[in-house]
Amino acid sequence: MVKDGGGIRPLIAGNWKMNGDKASVAEILAVRDALAGPLADLPADVMIAPPATLIAGFAAALGASPVLLAGQDCHPKPDGAHTGDIAAEMLRDAGAVAVIVGHSERRADHGETSSIVSEKAMAAHRAGLTAIVCIGETKDERTAGKTVAVVCGQLKDSLPASATSENTVIAYEPVWAIGTGLTPTPDDVKDVHAAIRSDLATLLGQEGTKMRILYGGSVKPDNAAVLMAVENVDGALVGGASLKASDFLAIVRTYEAKRC
Ligand code: 13P
Repeated sequence: MVKDGGGIRPLIAGNWKMNGDKASVAEILAVRDALAGPLADLPADVMIAPPATLIAGFAAALGASPVLLAGQDCHPKPDGAHTGDIAAEMLRDAGAVAVIVGHSERRADHGETSSIVSEKAMAAHRAGLTAIVCIGETKDERTAGKTVAVVCGQLKDSLPASATSENTVIAYEPVWAIGTGLTPTPDDVKDVHAAIRSDLATLLGQEGTKMRILYGGSVKPDNAAVLMAVENVDGALVGGASLKASDFLAIVRTYEAKRC
């Protein structure tokens, strides 16, 4: 994934979660066709993270399209006796170029700690994948005024030493905004992204100033432009609205207006 001349090249990534089947290739093909036509010189990367079962088929269907594919999770190890798990190397073999790690649903449903997330991000790097590292506070943490402390704590503990601006993307996803239709105000997003940017620069130096920081949580066609215009927001991680090509493309088009 490449960056624009001066600034950071944005990324719009769709996380399909546990949704979709082989017939959903129609949505992927609609995104492919838009990027081959009306959105051909879009100044942003576009990625879909379908369930792992669909990656290989979608990769075949996409061919040479610029639409990128990602996994939604990986195991820290490259192989072995880990029934039901998928290695980063397997995702790459199937056609993925990235993998989401540390999504709040994995942290909550599977007890993943930031230390495990860091191991998974390292596994992504080992396999040559970009790690999309998710962080975000719960409603109670926000109410208690702990948002920045929680988010920056997760950031520090989830980022492996191998992280660079090329192989890692941060996704700030407030847990209470996921799937609820609620979003933080643009000012709140700005504050949290500024804190993440500042800590990235402290942790990684120059690399931290160039790393993409996505916003995720109820991004929809009607709020994407406002959210994507916030300082230090370098794209979106989209859940529900990524399942339908028309909605996802409407969000992708946010960057069309910014084309030089
Ligand atoms: P929604 O866009 O459905 O709120 O999901 C966000 C998300 O969790 C993306 O990873």
